[in-house]
Amino acid sequence: MRLDIVTLFPAIFDGYLTQSLLDKAIQRELVQIHRHNLRDWAENTPHRKVDDRPFGGGPGMLIQVEPTVTCVDSVEAMDPRPARRILLTPQGKRFDQRMAEDFATSERVLMLCGRYEGFDQRVVDILQPEEVSIGDFVLNGGEVAAMVIVDAVVRLLPGVLGDENSSIDDSFSRGNRLLEFPQYTRPREFRDHAVPDVLLSGDHKAIAKWRDQQSLDRTQKRRSDLLEPDNENN
Ligand code: ADE
Repeated sequence: MRLDIVTLFPAIFDGYLTQSLLDKAIQRELVQIHRHNLRDWAENTPHRKVDDRPFGGGPGMLIQVEPTVTCVDSVEAMDPRPARRILLTPQGKRFDQRMAEDFATSERVLMLCGRYEGFDQRVVDILQPEEVSIGDFVLNGGEVAAMVIVDAVVRLLPGVLGDENSSIDDSFSRGNRLLEFPQYTRPREFRDHAVPDVLLSGDHKAIAKWRDQQSLDRTQKRRSDLLEPDNENN
């Protein structure tokens, strides 16, 4: 999979892309991640300006249509595969595991990170991206949202997680609408808190039953919405 990220702040991704799972996936060429500074497509304007005040008034600045569309055109021309275009915005459709699974099937995804008050509407009208939000809160820009999506998608790509860390049982994945059960490792006891006996029993049937019940109890208490028959994950 090839991921292109268009942003005014490419350095925000530095640490994230050079650590742990992402770094390994990139080294093993399971994913290619390219960052593009939107300002590079505003070279002819004074101070490489990419933003301006909204027509009609109002607070803040908007990212302009011209550098954005030119940037997307040239980034897309870097590879013959058609890109799925995603624009990060709190006005978008809510990101979830199902969307992550869907993105993970694409060969190429291009993400547009907004800043300030967002993009000129013509960016959306011309490029027709899928507008995606990671939740009902407002971030300072789309970069952190893009990282969330990259993180959720890359771990689903074949070969990224070893068998021992398979994502098949993840909460929210297709076929699993329950939250995960609690897990314990050594020591068996710490500050009067002991590991539940059943997990030390060696009785695999009893362990599986206990875990299923814990998952169900947790989901009922914390996220009863996941159990409703009309929930779109069911
Ligand atoms: N940009 C600012 N807030 C955002 C959010 N919640 N999701 C996606 N992009 C954003």
